Amino acid sequence: MEFKFNVNDIFKQPIVEINNNLIPPGFSGDRRALWDTLGKVSEVVNTMGEASAVAQGLSKPITTAERLRNSEHKLYFLIDQAANNGKGAVTGMLKTGNKGLYVFDRDGQHYQVTPPCILDFYIHESRQRTGLGKHLFEHMLQKEEIEPVKMAIDRPSDKLLGFLNKHYLLNSPVKQMNNYVVFDGFFPKSAEPSHVTESKPSGNLGRKESANGLQKFTSPQGRYGAPRPPCSMGQIIHNQTTNNKNQEPTGVKSLPATNYQGVHLGGAQIVSQ
Ligand code: ACO
Repeated sequence: MEFKFNVNDIFKQPIVEINNNLIPPGFSGDRRALWDTLGKVSEVVNTMGEASAVAQGLSKPITTAERLRNSEHKLYFLIDQAANNGKGAVTGMLKTGNKGLYVFDRDGQHYQVTPPCILDFYIHESRQRTGLGKHLFEHMLQKEEIEPVKMAIDRPSDKLLGFLNKHYLLNSPVKQMNNYVVFDGFFPKSAEPSHVTESKPSGNLGRKESANGLQKFTSPQGRYGAPRPPCSMGQIIHNQTTNNKNQEPTGVKSLPATNYQGVHLGGAQIVSQ
């Protein structure tokens, strides 16, 4: 993608990373130069976002300067510094970011996870299938120190699924209801049954984490797992004597399964200790 201005003046490396401040790496200059640069970076983001949306058949872009400014996402741009008579051209864009998701594996086990995600990926039509996508993707993997299989992908196109299959042998996607896709290696290898507990989102109780931030719900431990004293009000309501110390079980069981955010989880059991 060529622009009226000199791309090499604002993007000084073959791959540049932009975040929500929109300031390209290596920028130096006064306030006026900064405003000028921000305007040009915004134009690149919006133009590439628009082209990506058209290539994917989307009704509107998912990548805009405005949205980037209000996010924690990262944008990687691929630059052909020799193109356009030495003024440079932007040939690719890759957007990543962490998203809080509920994902299900093939057995229906559910996980709360905040993995790095592929959110938008585009190589200019004139350069597709020449290895540029792999080049940009590899750069991102190195920078983010992640394996492709540990990432979730937002609404992948057939081209992207073909790309992931060809370069990373990722096939048989596990499609999620939220339109994200993950692959089998995303989940831990020896899956224990997943349980829903009453643990709070802010606490670490009863959780396990893996490299991609995967959290699986397990039984509560420590003082939260200890037997509770009988609740006399509960026993009165249920017409039970209050002097039987073992009347009330700890925890909650056999309720319609919801997680702590109130999402229905299809009959999963809430476990009691
Ligand atoms: N049809 C089918 N497969 C394709 C196509 C295509 N038109 N283009 C790329 N691929 C896949 C194939 O596996 C291809 O290998 P092959 O040529 O041997 O069949 C492989 O990608 C090529 O690898 P690269 O050259 O490294 O990839 P490329 O530079 O083409 O970038 C990308 C891949 C980003 C998917 C690019 O094709 C593109 O921009 N497509 C249009 C936009 C798009 O679909 N983006 C992904 C949206 S989903 C999301 O962003 C989360």
